[in-house]
Amino acid sequence: MNDRYTASRRLYERAVKSIAAGVNSGIRKMEQPVPLYFSHGSGSRVWDVDGNEYIDFQIGQGALLYGHAPAGMAEAIAEQAKLGTHWAAQCELEIEVAERIQAMVPGAERVRFNNSATEVVLSALRLARAHTGRPLVLKFEGAYHGWADEGLVGFAPPPDRWGDSEHPARLHPSQGVIPEVLDTFVVARWNDPEHLRRKVAEFKGQIAAIIFEPIMCNTCCMEPVTGMIEKIRELCDSDGMLMIADETITGFRVAPGGAQQSLGFVPDLTILGKAVGGGLPFAALAGKEAAMRKIIEGTVVHAGTLNGNPLCLAASKWCLDRVRSLGDQHPRVVTMLGQQLMMGLRDSAGQHGIPLRPQGPGPAFHAVLLKPGAAEGPINDYRDYVSRQDSARWAHLRRCLLDHGVRAIERGLWFISLAHSEKDIREALVKAAPAFARHASEWKAA
Ligand SMILES: Cc1ncc(COP(=O)(O)O)c(C=O)c1O
Repeated sequence: MNDRYTASRRLYERAVKSIAAGVNSGIRKMEQPVPLYFSHGSGSRVWDVDGNEYIDFQIGQGALLYGHAPAGMAEAIAEQAKLGTHWAAQCELEIEVAERIQAMVPGAERVRFNNSATEVVLSALRLARAHTGRPLVLKFEGAYHGWADEGLVGFAPPPDRWGDSEHPARLHPSQGVIPEVLDTFVVARWNDPEHLRRKVAEFKGQIAAIIFEPIMCNTCCMEPVTGMIEKIRELCDSDGMLMIADETITGFRVAPGGAQQSLGFVPDLTILGKAVGGGLPFAALAGKEAAMRKIIEGTVVHAGTLNGNPLCLAASKWCLDRVRSLGDQHPRVVTMLGQQLMMGLRDSAGQHGIPLRPQGPGPAFHAVLLKPGAAEGPINDYRDYVSRQDSARWAHLRRCLLDHGVRAIERGLWFISLAHSEKDIREALVKAAPAFARHASEWKAA
């Protein structure tokens, strides 16, 4: 088929013959009409191999908080590459990065580095079990904490199997998982502090930690209801559990110190990923010294050949300095731009009768397309999200937006980077208008 994605189609057809399913992360296969291949990016823009230009709100699944190929970052990495790409030993850069994280993130008294947030989640959970001598971890239904066995328990459960609302089932979206892993989790619903209290009481003295995304960005960008974060902190303190904030997405994005800074709490352990490396494979576990004690004394194993890789460190130092250099402009600007875009998308879609209801803080938000007759108002938990949103309709609308040069994440998430400007937002809304018109006519006809 010859269309605006011909070169991507050709590469994908070639890729499936050497790369399993043609992609290197399962979610990338979701992209319609074909997983796209990119040639280059600059700031808020990215170009595919067919020469199509996109205003990019996917920005490397959020890792590119600084935009594509930001001026100065390549030089920082190149300078380091000339000195050495890897030592599997110490260098001053790792202290410089750790000190920056310490200065920025409230809960970061001590830091350890990994190459992905998935690994950091595993480290945090191991540490919590060792710290408390307890076997269980409480996580919230619908939350994504990386692709390992433990990170995916309770992620995307189907309605016919998710159990009653007081006892969300411990389901796993993947085959091949160690069966006993499921038994080490308690799944609770997000944004119901009283339900959470009951779950903790039910397993009193057995739960090592509560792990949560302070804003559940991966599922509908659900902000915590009043009292939710306070309830997590209070229960962790009263029942001796560790509070683990997964700030892989919110870290450095919703405030220089992440959601813990903007929402005003101090977790025991923090997961940092994505923006901490600006697109390089870099992630960090940060925590209170007491919570990190078992790693400090060496009774909990934390290791990795590429941990603290100097190229990643050079990138990270550049990224953190960029955030710090913005002073009080950040997150003010990304929040304002995100809210402008959310409002503009909602109004423009509304002109075509499309029930688009973006929600989220602004630097990240989710574009929810409501099912016919679905109630208005904020979506606060996973079950509510599944029952009100129309994923097939969103997939069609996303494709229309892509055809008009506006790129959002397949499942509905949008990110604003430091490279986006008011001009980008205005232009994105101009490009979105014909996409909405096309979607409205095709969807009605279907
Ligand atoms: C909240 C959260 N935790 C953990 C992860 C895993 O990060 P990584 O893909 O770097 O392993 C992600 C990735 O999207 C995430 O959003």
